[in-house]
Amino acid sequence: MVIGKPFFTSEQIQNKVKELADRISSDYEGKNLLAVGILKGAFMFYSDIVRMIRVPLAVDFIIASSYMKESTTGEVKVYYDIREDISDKDVLLIEDIADSGITLNYLRERILARGPKSLRICVFLDKKERRVVDVPLDYVGFEIPNEYVVGYGLDYDNKFRNLPYISIFKKTATDAK
Ligand code: IMP
Ligand code: MG
Repeated sequence: MVIGKPFFTSEQIQNKVKELADRISSDYEGKNLLAVGILKGAFMFYSDIVRMIRVPLAVDFIIASSYMKESTTGEVKVYYDIREDISDKDVLLIEDIADSGITLNYLRERILARGPKSLRICVFLDKKERRVVDVPLDYVGFEIPNEYVVGYGLDYDNKFRNLPYISIFKKTATDAK
């Protein structure tokens, strides 16, 4: 396998996180923000962005993973869900990347069914080309081309999540063995 040079450096990432956090801070002034991170992928982005948001907030998480059965269908499994009553909360879902959109669409509908005061979605990366299900994204860090990326929480086989930068990941012929 080959990890290329940084696609987004640590510095570019931090600048973008700050930009998103500034927008969120002004949009959520006087609201009852519940920042919900989607694990595991969003753990690094989540911890960076909540530290830069300047309005009071509560934290919670969803642990979910999606299984692609065919190219156009996916099943999402939730292992841990938001614990508190969200009827008085302005929920902000924080995710690493929107790819097919299946995970976010599923979680969005699941949360909406619980009647939050409001719900918005923040993703660090958006692979728009790959979208199968249309899901509204309120805050997007970077749009990226259809390439598999790792680092900054994103994994290949649960590895490379700890890289402080984002790289394009390429499988080589020897990996197939
Ligand atoms: P979706 O349901 O297809 O939008 O998938 C979203 C999930 O797929 C993300 O939360 C990631 O865990 C994973 N994913 C999609 N693209 C990538 C990538 O380029 N690198 C690492 N994980 C990815
Ligand atoms: Mg994920």
